[in-house]
Amino acid sequence: MKVGMDQISFYTSQYFLDLKTLAEARGVDPDKYVLGIGQEKMGIPPPDEDVVTMAASAAFPLKEKGALDGVETLLFATESGIDQSKAAGLFVHGLLNLPERCRVVELKQACYSATVALRMAMGLVTMRPQSKVLVIASDVARYELGSPGESTQGCGAVAFTISADPQLLAIDPEAGFYAADVMDFWRPNYLSEALVDGKFSTLVYIRALKAAWKQYAEESGRSLEDFARFCYHIPFTRMAAKAHQKLSRGISDEELEKVIGESLIYSREAGNCYAASLYVGLASLLDNAAEDLSEKRIGLYSYGSGCVGEFFSGVVQPGYRRALLTAAHQKLLAGRTELTFQQYEDIYHYGIPTDGGKHDFAQYRTGPFRFAGIREHKRIYERA
Ligand code: HMG
Repeated sequence: MKVGMDQISFYTSQYFLDLKTLAEARGVDPDKYVLGIGQEKMGIPPPDEDVVTMAASAAFPLKEKGALDGVETLLFATESGIDQSKAAGLFVHGLLNLPERCRVVELKQACYSATVALRMAMGLVTMRPQSKVLVIASDVARYELGSPGESTQGCGAVAFTISADPQLLAIDPEAGFYAADVMDFWRPNYLSEALVDGKFSTLVYIRALKAAWKQYAEESGRSLEDFARFCYHIPFTRMAAKAHQKLSRGISDEELEKVIGESLIYSREAGNCYAASLYVGLASLLDNAAEDLSEKRIGLYSYGSGCVGEFFSGVVQPGYRRALLTAAHQKLLAGRTELTFQQYEDIYHYGIPTDGGKHDFAQYRTGPFRFAGIREHKRIYERA
């Protein structure tokens, strides 16, 4: 029985900052961001958008097309948690009116957690092939203003379903994975922005990749030539390019562009989406590949700082294009509103009130759901 990804939907905020605007404000050569980092824009969530509204907005099109019928479990992957106890997925469960007979849990391991969610989902579906699992990864990447990480911010969510006889990607059983206790990137509970040892983080990302790939290759007997495309965790698109150059030494620029280029298009516009980033890359690849990828094998590398890395793979299913939301994804990215630098900084400084009082948030552009305010320390969400 084939088990894997049946549907995928991507959402990012309706606002972005152009990295040329950031470069000008910070006195940096714009080429550093556009060429050196490989990013053009970063998604910025307004005060009434958070990981819950982005997650629900990503999953909503799947609900509308009936793709969530049969979902028995919702796994919510994030490192931008909004509560120390309640799973963010329960707010999404309510907004999407999912059935009561549904397990809901939140998973965390930096940018890696959606991948363990995927594998747990495969186990659940293998045991009950008539059921589905909804995995949602949703995150806001935030670093200190003026820090080296600032240009690698972003936000977004990906919702995907795992089922038997999937329409998009049948996931292979083999995987190589690696863990090490390192401090390359972290966010203490009392901070709203991540701390990072930037250069070190890029080295650990590659170290984990090499270990995970070696194990995967030994277990599967496959070599790099067995893959039509690769998707990497994308903190910024040059990182994915560098990673693939490490695995495939001496690869030409043309070949590099062919095997990873289509997977980088959405991330260049949305920025780092942490747990969602690898899957933003997969959505970008499936939506933008000019070549029909049916029956082709894709290699995927997931990395979460701290750190865990995993290399795994899947085979694209015939007719996969019929299940894609390509037009909706492209319309979303094309229709966003550009922020001025001042607006970006104002939004950055907007803090969620912590006094337990009654607060209504101003209405910005969002997807179908918005974070309307706070009452007695309770978050209030509503249809936009
Ligand atoms: P930096 O010090 O600002 O940048 O930090 P740099 O000086 O290293 O320059 C970056 C690149 O731009 C270099 O290219 C420069 O040469 C080039 P490279 O040598 O690397 O090939 N450059 C230029 N190119 C063209 N024209 C110019 C120009 N100037 C310079 N004029 C850094 C960069 C990535 C460290 C920083 O942005 C950062 O700390 N980001 C956050 C951490 C991060 O994204 N790490 C990635 C790996 S860890 C990970 O992926 C996990 C993560 O997603 C979190 C999670 O798991 O939850 C982050």
